Amino acid sequence: MVIGILGEKADNRVAITPEHIQQLSGLKAEKILVESGAGNNAGYPDSLYQEKGAVVTDRASVLRDADMLLCIQPIGRQELDSLKGKVLVGGFNPLVNTDFVKDALGAGVSAFSLDVIPRTTRAQAMDILSSMATVSGYKAVLVAASHLPRFFPMFMTAAGTITPAKVLVLGAGVAGLQAIATAKRLGAVVEASDVRQAAREEVLSLGAKFVDVEGATEDKSAGGYAVEQTEEFKQRQQQAVQEHAMKSDVVICTAQIPGRKAPILLLKDTVAHMKPGSVIIDLAASTGGNCEVTEDGKTIQVNGVTVVGDSGLAATMPYDASKMFGKNIINFLKIMIDKDGAIQLNWEDDLITGTCIAHAGEIRNERVKNIMQVSA
Ligand code: NAI
Repeated sequence: MVIGILGEKADNRVAITPEHIQQLSGLKAEKILVESGAGNNAGYPDSLYQEKGAVVTDRASVLRDADMLLCIQPIGRQELDSLKGKVLVGGFNPLVNTDFVKDALGAGVSAFSLDVIPRTTRAQAMDILSSMATVSGYKAVLVAASHLPRFFPMFMTAAGTITPAKVLVLGAGVAGLQAIATAKRLGAVVEASDVRQAAREEVLSLGAKFVDVEGATEDKSAGGYAVEQTEEFKQRQQQAVQEHAMKSDVVICTAQIPGRKAPILLLKDTVAHMKPGSVIIDLAASTGGNCEVTEDGKTIQVNGVTVVGDSGLAATMPYDASKMFGKNIINFLKIMIDKDGAIQLNWEDDLITGTCIAHAGEIRNERVKNIMQVSA
């Protein structure tokens, strides 16, 4: 089998780094093709891939000659149409990007999207959402620190005492927990809130304070994810968030509900009451944001508060983000490629079924199937 690695058109990351080439060879790939320049923006020049035995060539040749293609972002309709019968693995955001699912079905491609892999222990090593959330949670704190006109840690100097910054993290999933840990390492005083009780222990174990709001709805069948909350709870939560945000220097927003608009936790009125100079980093910007004034892809000033709307922070650390993405893909390929190097789609395996968004004209992932029915 020939495996092809595509370059990304609007992303600095690359799906597979040179250190993963040997692991692909170990999966008995007969040849590994890499699009020329694919790793350039992530710090992996063509020569490093060649040293590991990959063949660097142009995009058209990779698309034509590979049986399996690895990438990060969705590829366009025209290219998809040339891939009939081939396997495509990446992160295609199928709960939102339903057009891509339709295109892949129409093109007769077998597409597997690792961002909808089930949240099970076995899947952890293949979970690109977790990997990328780790990067963005970390980077969110650094971006906040660079905008903040004050220190994060406490300092006692001859020039006086500096009090530590206060950081509020909304949503304590993977990104939120990483943001808490990073802000703590920088010396900030950190509090966090989440609607899942399981998050409470994790927040406390990182040395942060948990902001409790009574009466959250939880649904065990949601696979560890948060669910939509009642109007009454939302109001109570917005009130609690306001009280804590007003005392904070930094608010990091990470709360998401898969396939839905992000919950609004920070109202415009709350921003108006925050301290001038404080910073809001909204990682949920691409799905509407947790803050009412967030503008996706923009950094704005509102009453002296800096509001950064950026859901793409993982791509701003492309070297390590690519390493993590690549390792997730390799782990997934281990269950998709047999010992002779052939593709084996075992539909009894929940990780194969749970990531399959197109195969022989069918969607196998249940959540994507339901969303497509609703949007049809
Ligand atoms: P996410 O990116 O979907 O959401 C981020 C966080 O926001 C979550 O913790 C969620 O509970 C919270 N949130 C949603 N609505 C909220 C609201 N109205 N107010 C406050 N917080 C709100 O979550 P992520 O990081 O993907 O993790 C979700 C769960 O999945 C966690 O329990 C995590 O530990 C688990 N997980 C399991 C994995 C596995 O077993 N393979 C892999 C990764 C995560």
